[in-house]
Amino acid sequence: MSTVVLKRTNQKMPLVGLGLWKIPKPSCADTVYNAIKAGYRLFDGAGDYGNEKESGDGVRRAIADGLVKREDLFITSKLWNTFHAKEHVHALAKKQLELWGIDYFDLFLIHFPVALQYVDPNHRYPPEWWGDDGKVYLANTTIQETWTAMEELVDAGIAKNIGISNFQSSLILDLLRYARYEPQVLQVELHPYLNQQPLVDFCKAWGIAVTAYSSFGPQGYIELGMDKSAASLFSNDTVQQVATATKKTPGQVILRWATQRGIAVIPKSTTDERLAENLGNLKFDLSEEQLKSISGLNINLRLNDPVLIDPRLSIFA
Ligand SMILES: NC(=O)c1ccc[n+]([C@@H]2O[C@H](COP(=O)([O-])OP(=O)(O)OC[C@H]3O[C@@H](n4cnc5c(N)ncnc54)[C@H](OP(=O)(O)O)[C@@H]3O)[C@@H](O)[C@H]2O)c1
Repeated sequence: MSTVVLKRTNQKMPLVGLGLWKIPKPSCADTVYNAIKAGYRLFDGAGDYGNEKESGDGVRRAIADGLVKREDLFITSKLWNTFHAKEHVHALAKKQLELWGIDYFDLFLIHFPVALQYVDPNHRYPPEWWGDDGKVYLANTTIQETWTAMEELVDAGIAKNIGISNFQSSLILDLLRYARYEPQVLQVELHPYLNQQPLVDFCKAWGIAVTAYSSFGPQGYIELGMDKSAASLFSNDTVQQVATATKKTPGQVILRWATQRGIAVIPKSTTDERLAENLGNLKFDLSEEQLKSISGLNINLRLNDPVLIDPRLSIFA
């Protein structure tokens, strides 16, 4: 199994994709191109990552060189917090499509359940979390208003599938009460130190596919100084033992722990070796006991939390 079938459209979402956060602009087009060459078909972008144009350049070059067709790719993007109001959702999705140089997203997600005051993209793009004075300005847009506008993106052919990111179950349950189109994907931080089992079980019960972000736990946060000094998962004894037993790398073991249970992963890498290594996680299986031993590493360590931006944004409390 290398894909997960999404509810409503029955579209197949690849279980492994490339995460585009922190891929530097100058090398981003080459990284995307090389990833397509290596076999990647899913790309996980966002307005907030600041490299949509460069990601699109890589895609266009790969299509021009005959490596793939647009319909072979699964391109995800996300709506940023400052654009939650209904009058901005459509305009921003269109702007993001223009930057990518494509005419639809396969999946469009609400990036965070946090509405911030609008920032004109001509003033600053991506707008990030702070106003010009370094303060955080909240907005009163409800998730219902934003979700209704997301549904209109589906009607307009701008997004084939829509979903959410960084949502917890009670908020999802409320969204399901009014949704005309149910969210097809939930993207959340998920790794052996934060196994999110109750949320994964909730999504399974509702037929919502789960995508894990930051699969390698602290690794992706070291360069931002946000790793909370947590021990590396790659050198963890349990991960190492399973890697030795299966003759795979620690990275492949960590990814397979998710994909074998139908959870999609989007590891970010800028090197050809690791791109190939990460995609290779689909080519072996872990035993039930090995899966369990890795799940047992859970310490509820959350690294990506907007509470670090502003205490009013403690969305996971
Ligand atoms: N929805 C959200 O709010 C949200 C939040 C965070 C992330 N995301 C998405 O999830 C993606 C992945 O998360 P992430 O970027 O936080 O981190 P990640 O994929 O868990 O880790 C990336 C780090 O691991 C290294 N790495 C990659 N493959 C490796 C391997 N096989 N062995 C050893 N090291 C390896 C990378 O270095 P090199 O680049 O040098 O290989 C990089 O330092 C993001 O790019 C983004 O698309 C979404």
